[in-house]
Amino acid sequence: MCGIIGYNGNLQAPGLLIEGLERLEYRGYDSAGIAVKDTKTSSFHVIKTVGKVAELKNRLPELDGISSTCGIGHTRWATHGGVCEVNAHPHTFGRVVLLHNGIIENHRELVEKFGLKGKLKTQTDTEIAAAVFDAYYQGNPKEAIRKAVKEFIGTYAFCIMFVEEDEAEASTDEIYAIRSVSPLVATLCDDGAFISSDITALIKYTNKYFVVPENHIVTLGKNTMTIEDMRGHKFTPEYLTVNWDISAAQKGGYKHYMMKEIMEQPDVIAATIHGRISDGLPSLANDNVPDDIFKGLHSIQIVACGTAMHAGMVFKAMIEPILRVPVTVNIASEYRYQDPIVDEHTLVIAISQSGETIDTLEALRLSKRYGATTLAVVNVQGSSIARESDYVVYTYAGPEIAVASTKAYTVQIATLYLIGCRIALANKKMTQKAAKQFIRNLEQVSAHIKSILDNQEPIKKATKYLKKATDAFFIGRGNDYALSLEGSLKLKEISYIHAEAYAAGELKHGTIALITEGVPVIAVATQRTVFSKTISNIREVNARGAYVILIMEEQTVVDKDLCKIKLTIPETEDVFSVFPTSAILQLIAYYSADARGLDVDMPRNLAKSVTVE
Ligand code: AGP
Repeated sequence: MCGIIGYNGNLQAPGLLIEGLERLEYRGYDSAGIAVKDTKTSSFHVIKTVGKVAELKNRLPELDGISSTCGIGHTRWATHGGVCEVNAHPHTFGRVVLLHNGIIENHRELVEKFGLKGKLKTQTDTEIAAAVFDAYYQGNPKEAIRKAVKEFIGTYAFCIMFVEEDEAEASTDEIYAIRSVSPLVATLCDDGAFISSDITALIKYTNKYFVVPENHIVTLGKNTMTIEDMRGHKFTPEYLTVNWDISAAQKGGYKHYMMKEIMEQPDVIAATIHGRISDGLPSLANDNVPDDIFKGLHSIQIVACGTAMHAGMVFKAMIEPILRVPVTVNIASEYRYQDPIVDEHTLVIAISQSGETIDTLEALRLSKRYGATTLAVVNVQGSSIARESDYVVYTYAGPEIAVASTKAYTVQIATLYLIGCRIALANKKMTQKAAKQFIRNLEQVSAHIKSILDNQEPIKKATKYLKKATDAFFIGRGNDYALSLEGSLKLKEISYIHAEAYAAGELKHGTIALITEGVPVIAVATQRTVFSKTISNIREVNARGAYVILIMEEQTVVDKDLCKIKLTIPETEDVFSVFPTSAILQLIAYYSADARGLDVDMPRNLAKSVTVE
């Protein structure tokens, strides 16, 4: 999950590349580096540092006096080789300067095949790739690329520059790029030719871009751009347009991207469902998703990871009681190595904010090979999962920069509810009257979330206790269990408090042994159908001294000694209570992490999009 940027044009490259890397930093931030080509001497200048892009920015004065309008930059999330300056990209070998996002799985064989033992400076697979490109470079960059990529097994997005041997050689003032699975987008605009891992880095210059087709060589010349397939045939790209501007990709006055994105939820949920309601009923006509694909289903299988998978759990709880067809929620990294029971009567729904999560993408590909109809729910237009699914319903959450997913999650659930309501209607499992009521309730959820966002003090108070905690438990039943899983993930990934989620009824089968005096338990009890059972479980942890933070509907009456802190949501049906409950859980995680002085937006070891296994 690294960040890549390349530029060739008339603007000074060093500052431009570093500014682009700052916008890509959420993709990985172990180390960073740039390589720029000196306009006068044609030599390369490479600076790279461990840590955030800010560290690299501090090294910019080393390039003072150098004019360069062509270069490449990279932010790293380490996969092969530790986090250190020498392992930071760009890497050079012989006459090749390159950077890479992905994993070259056959790197050991390549060391043998190309006699690289004792010649490598780093522990990275990327340097080995540079050596392979160099081995094939005889003065023709594209020829070298065509031959070299045939040697690689794995995933890659490369940006490559070649060092001229001498003046006699044709100017290699170009940047070359090629991808397989790992994402790359590009654009040619007034300010020059750009290439990047995602549009966020380019939005300052243009909102139009194209997705680099796999196994095609992109050449970024001085304000020129050519794309050709492996046989040299020219390819004309289809440009896409993002509907947000640079302010959407900035903090907008909030302390962290995460808070900005939490606060955006009411609006982006409304924006996502708005164009998909016609005469009070759900409509996917504008998404070109026909009702026919929802008829005669024998099963629905969700494939997703992390928060996206948790959204799938909420969708299952909504649709299964209505449709009475088995709905399974599958961890994509498990699903892709199983032998799933899939046929032409299976609908596979791939949920992904980034649309680039490799496990979800490969699970989707597997299900297609098995004959499933596939539908993607993704937030990034033109992303790999969107492009490889039979059908796609985009969420309009806008760019989600914070590594911890918040608005994407609730927008995914709202979108899945629209789809679920459409599936129910297509199978005559829901009357139009009931569907209109469902949609009216769905249109209320933005207001329910807003009621939480407008009253954050009780939540801040609750996190004062959590700030000092080393462990925390989340318990709930039904949807409250799905929400507990999400709340637990949110808390641990940004506050580093070891949190676990448990089905409330399951706790007594072992784990309750860990509940001792003062252990925080966030009890989610919003589901009316199982409320009394959850209350019994809360009494069980209470009896062992737990510090209970209870989330429930307002107006509900409980014993005053049942919990230390009560956080309430507006009264609403079980399926819709997940929205305000999510906002509470997101804010609990946010304030706990912030109180601990941690980097809320870029937590350690993580990256926004997991494009490696
Ligand atoms: C969520 O807070 C995490 N950052 C992570 O679990 C994320 O949801 C997961 O990696 C899936 O990402 P995707 O939605 O982009 O596929």
